[in-house]
Amino acid sequence: MTDAPTTLDALFAAAVAARERAYAPYSGFTVGAALITPDGAIHAGCNVENAAYPVGACAEAGAISAMVAGGGRRIAAMLVVAGGEGLCTPCGACRQRIREFAAPDTPVHVAGPEGLRRSFTLEQLLPASFGPDVLDAARSAP
Ligand code: THU
Repeated sequence: MTDAPTTLDALFAAAVAARERAYAPYSGFTVGAALITPDGAIHAGCNVENAAYPVGACAEAGAISAMVAGGGRRIAAMLVVAGGEGLCTPCGACRQRIREFAAPDTPVHVAGPEGLRRSFTLEQLLPASFGPDVLDAARSAP
């Protein structure tokens, strides 16, 4: 679940840059997320809020959309950065979004503006999860 420092540094830089462009006028809580695919491509996203509050989107969702639009299909590692004292772990819905494109041992790093705070595996964040493999197994069942 560890990543080479260079990968972590690159994810952190991309997430921080995306966070600087976040649109969060309602919560004031800006978030950046960056992921790396197995071939080394990095995609980033930021939260984009909306006057109709529930329509807002998380930073992780933006990073995943950028990956898919860029032709990527697998997340090798992800990093989320936000401010404040707490840990900005992905929300429940985003854990499921990450699950679609990641493995149980995929690292999900959580950072503050000063740097890395804690690293998790996806399995730690979303145990006993439902994913595409469950559907595949059901389709091939008698
Ligand atoms: N948010 C994210 O973008 N990612 C997270 O992991 C947690 C929360 C956003 C959603 C909303 O725009 C703001 O942070 C406050 O919840």
